[in-house]
Amino acid sequence: MTAIEISEPGGPEVLRPVEVTVPVPGHGEILIRVAYAGVNRPDALQRAGLYAPPPTASPLPGLEASGWVAAVGPGVTKWQEGDRVTALLPGGGYAEYAVTPEDHALPVPEGIGLKEAACLPETCYTVWSNVMLRGGLRAGERFLVHGGASGIGTTAIQMARALGARVFATAGSPEKCAACEALGAEKAVNYHEEDFVKVMKAEGGAHVILDMVGGDYIQRNVKALADEGRLVQIAFLKGSKAELNFAEVMMRRLTITGSTLRPQSDLAKARYARHLAKHVWPMVERGTLRPVIDSEFALVDAAKAHHRIESSGHIGKIVLKVA
Ligand SMILES: NC(=O)c1ccc[n+]([C@@H]2O[C@H](COP(=O)([O-])OP(=O)(O)OC[C@H]3O[C@@H](n4cnc5c(N)ncnc54)[C@H](OP(=O)(O)O)[C@@H]3O)[C@@H](O)[C@H]2O)c1
Repeated sequence: MTAIEISEPGGPEVLRPVEVTVPVPGHGEILIRVAYAGVNRPDALQRAGLYAPPPTASPLPGLEASGWVAAVGPGVTKWQEGDRVTALLPGGGYAEYAVTPEDHALPVPEGIGLKEAACLPETCYTVWSNVMLRGGLRAGERFLVHGGASGIGTTAIQMARALGARVFATAGSPEKCAACEALGAEKAVNYHEEDFVKVMKAEGGAHVILDMVGGDYIQRNVKALADEGRLVQIAFLKGSKAELNFAEVMMRRLTITGSTLRPQSDLAKARYARHLAKHVWPMVERGTLRPVIDSEFALVDAAKAHHRIESSGHIGKIVLKVA
């Protein structure tokens, strides 16, 4: 099959099409003939040598894909050859075929196609597990997401809104802010022009903040939280170190937490998949959550897709067309 390999750690140009053997599904795994593969920022980190895949995962990039079940491994009970699925992958999505545990796949929701479906797993697993399960966001609470126009951000805005939260976002341009508001954010703050701490304080503070920026945002997020607020960290685009006065955490009963999806156990991911099937897929089927797609590239043009994601010019998700 054709796949994209990371020939060596580096820039987008190190992504090269190669011919490799089709993987064989093991016990409890399915083989997917990939229709579309989602492109995510963690793929760019892996390509640059900054985010090593777990030892048992494919070294090929790609954390999510949609397509058709092409074969099932021993012990598989949920899926049959030909089923249309979208799945979280341990790696290897930038390829014509990929394997994943059967419990990490979900049916393609009614009302959307394989292209949109490929954009769901990585962001939905991440947003649900961090905002809802760790952050405990409830209806009526104020929710702030940084990077509101990112793949994660556009999903988080819609999901939080569908749950009845009041949603705020930050983004780096007027166009991105307008996109966040069109998706359901009550206000999107252009961080080049306005201070999100002031904006959130004027509202009474955020009950939950989803942050991918880190650096000086860590201190500022603490200030922007309401009493009993929860800060959930999912990445550190501006660095992971900060000087923080923890007295504020104690006096205002704040929670600082975070997680990264990929190293979690298969059982934890299967649990998230059950949550998505119950709570999030109905949102997609009702049309209250729709993947925002910025652009599509052919599989062999994966390097162009990485240039696009690292330019930060995109709004929403980038996909690779494979079949
Ligand atoms: N923990 C996890 O399990 C997990 C899973 C998936 C993704 N992630 C992380 O979540 C983030 C979003 O992922 P994605 O795939 O949705 O990426 P993405 O679409 O590329 O979004 C990244 C966004 O971050 C903003 N940004 C970049 N540099 C910034 C900076 N220095 N300061 C402020 N904002 C900055 C950009 O928007 P502006 O133009 O508005 O600045 C960009 O839209 C990534 O950092 C990724 O690594 C974590």
